[in-house]
Amino acid sequence: MKLNIAVLPGDGIGPEIISVALDVTKAICDKFKHNLSFEYGICGADAIDKVGNPYPDETHELCMRSDAVLFGAVGHPRFDNDPSAKVRPEQGLLAMRKKLGLYANIRPVVTFETLIHKSPLRADLVKGADFMCIRELTGGLYFGRPQGRSEDGNVAYDTCVYSRDEVVRIVTLAYEYAMKRRKKLTIVDKANVLATSRLWREVSKEIAPKFPEVETEFMFVDNAAMRMIQWPTSFDVIVTENMFGDILTDEGSVITGSMGLLPSASIGTYTSVFEPIHGSWPQAAGQNIANPLATVLSAAMMFEYAFNLKDEASLIRGAVDASMNANVRTADIQIDGEKSFSTSEVGNWIVDFINKA
Ligand code: IPM
Ligand code: MN
Repeated sequence: MKLNIAVLPGDGIGPEIISVALDVTKAICDKFKHNLSFEYGICGADAIDKVGNPYPDETHELCMRSDAVLFGAVGHPRFDNDPSAKVRPEQGLLAMRKKLGLYANIRPVVTFETLIHKSPLRADLVKGADFMCIRELTGGLYFGRPQGRSEDGNVAYDTCVYSRDEVVRIVTLAYEYAMKRRKKLTIVDKANVLATSRLWREVSKEIAPKFPEVETEFMFVDNAAMRMIQWPTSFDVIVTENMFGDILTDEGSVITGSMGLLPSASIGTYTSVFEPIHGSWPQAAGQNIANPLATVLSAAMMFEYAFNLKDEASLIRGAVDASMNANVRTADIQIDGEKSFSTSEVGNWIVDFINKA
């Protein structure tokens, strides 16, 4: 099969972790005889420095002609501490989501037995947690207009907007994922307060009968936030709007103690983007210490979701599991007292494992 991908390393540790994920992708393509073609693009602070735009047109055109995008991370603290900065790396991310129509952000939350000691929760609560958050990514408060300030600057406003079609698209996708899993869907909203949430609920109730095997549960977002730490194993698939999803997926990502291992996929109208959920960790850039596993597992998601190549995806996941079992781990997930490995050492070990498999 021909795999045509765009590679956007971005900022901070992005280039190092992307380099590992790309090596793994190449190894898989060699093994399974796929024809890989890839091209690099710039984005984030890197692109602001080079061309003054965090998501340049050239990068957009590259993404549009690719079947999938492998993405590192964007962001730099010099922008966070500068309220006067006119262009920010994050704007590039939002522009990319909108222009590529990346409407569904999929973040699996899985606990790894050997990392449970890193969880901020009691091991007995989090053990066995395995759920998937599906966050609507191109609507709601992030993109609703009007947004801005009154003339005197004393009032600011954002607008939360959702259309029926947007809700149908994401909720249907969530049901389809639930059908492939344990067949339980939790639809998270704030229907006791928000009109958009009431539309979500109304539309979801129309869709639910099409998936009679799936158990549907409606939950207010405040309650969901609480339940995620009290009883994380009670979730299978969660679907929610953009802002709630932003918050809940961060919560979800830390409860397993394995933030450095969590991948994500953003499914789009034109192409899909695969990236680790962690950020660009600028302080560690260039030190060869970042954990590449979330990005490697994002590449696994790419094989599965963008190309429907499941054996390839499971070989990558198997190699990652094997590296952890062999204790070939970066410092953030190493067991106390064990030697830790560099980004590239972990990458090489995984590539070797794939070559020998
Ligand atoms: C995320 C991030 C972004 C978001 C920021 C960087 C704009 O937090 O991908 O979750 O809020 O969506
Ligand atoms: Mn976020």
